[in-house]
Amino acid sequence: MNTILESGRLILREFAPQDATALARVLSDPETMKYYPAPLDQSGTEQWINRNLRRYAHDGVGLWAMVLKASSELIGDCGVIRQYVDSEYFYEIGYHLRRDHWGQGLATEAAVACREWAFANLKVNRLISLIRPENIPSRHVAERNGMTIWKEVDWRGLRHCVYAIERPE
Ligand SMILES: CC(C)(COP(=O)(O)OP(=O)(O)OC[C@H]1O[C@@H](n2cnc3c(N)ncnc32)[C@H](O)[C@@H]1OP(=O)(O)O)[C@@H](O)C(=O)NCCC(=O)NCCS
Repeated sequence: MNTILESGRLILREFAPQDATALARVLSDPETMKYYPAPLDQSGTEQWINRNLRRYAHDGVGLWAMVLKASSELIGDCGVIRQYVDSEYFYEIGYHLRRDHWGQGLATEAAVACREWAFANLKVNRLISLIRPENIPSRHVAERNGMTIWKEVDWRGLRHCVYAIERPE
């Protein structure tokens, strides 16, 4: 497995097809997927992983598997995705965490590690997170990751806040 980075409690590594069952436990939860069109079933999760395998090949980045060091369990995803927003390409930090692990700072820990990794490894001056205005827990993660609201856009037919952070001097 290709490990991308480590933080205190987490390893972020590339997904593999055999992660589908563990990831489906995250993405099939209607509460976790409240701000998405629908929760994903096993087949939808397999397609999600395949999309990220294509991102690794084409963009060098994508959503990575979030693995808890203490148990080696896959408990979510976090990573960097190349996104086209308002006529420009950006790198977005995204995250999804299994609901029984909410409230421990794990998503923030992963997002901060991705922000540091992206500024160290990608030639970009700005990172973003695209977040539905109603998604308060996700907005809090972006804020704890040092981001502030840059603008609001209609993206894939839905209103989104574009949170952003600039490369430090
Ligand atoms: C967005 C999401 C990952 C946030 O999860 P979360 O558990 O609230 O976020 P964190 O893991 O960073 O945990 C933060 C909470 O843990 C608490 N916490 C406990 N121990 C902590 C620690 N050691 N360090 C930091 N925070 C800690 C914080 O106080 C905070 O609690 P609060 O929200 O009550 O203030 C989660 O709600 C989710 O998966 N949502 C569905 C998917 C989604 O919408 N993704 C984003 C799409 S834009």
